[in-house]
Amino acid sequence: MKGFAYLLVAVVAVTGVVVYMAHASGRSDGEADPVFGITIPPGYRDWKLISVAHEEGNLNDLRALLGNDVAIKAYREGKLPFPDGTIIARLAWSYVPSEENNKVFGRSQSFVAGPATNLQFMVKDSKKYATTGGWGFAQFKDGKPADAALLKTCFPCHEPVKARDFVFTQYAP
Ligand code: HEC
Repeated sequence: MKGFAYLLVAVVAVTGVVVYMAHASGRSDGEADPVFGITIPPGYRDWKLISVAHEEGNLNDLRALLGNDVAIKAYREGKLPFPDGTIIARLAWSYVPSEENNKVFGRSQSFVAGPATNLQFMVKDSKKYATTGGWGFAQFKDGKPADAALLKTCFPCHEPVKARDFVFTQYAP
């Protein structure tokens, strides 16, 4: 019994250290978004690619859709709705011509990612975000979260793809 108690103490202590370390290394110093309380998820830039997209018009950007491990697994297995813990990131850059690339092609045909515009996230937590389809929405520009008025526009516009759990982007083959 005494041995078990020691073991228990040791397990609790190790767990505490691991939790502390995870917290310290995964700390996000950024401000949380004012509606859903989401901060920029640590390590998102290293997540796997779901797909890419290009918007014209006022946005005129290039975007990459990345998913954390939960998101990628669900996508690959075709699992809907996405499980709690899914996070989908949308990175975007302005769409700019590349003079350097055009020179080697001998004509104007190359467009590349210019400066980053903004970052968006959809975070799945079916209880916490029950009123918005189980998704929390966040947008950041230079690390600053978007205001509440803008965040209220996110869910209504994603409603048309309710059948795909409010997610537009499909996994690129
Ligand atoms: C005018 C409609 C509209 C609004 C408003 C909107 N979205 Fe989207 N969103 C889309 C469409 C369409 C796509 C897929 C095409 C693309 O990425 O450009 C998308 C894609 C996304 C994705 C990638 C996952 C997916 O569904 O494809 C995220 C993350 C996202 N939006 C977050 C947000 C956030 C956060 C807000 C609010 C700040 C927001 N969206 C507001 C239409 C909208």
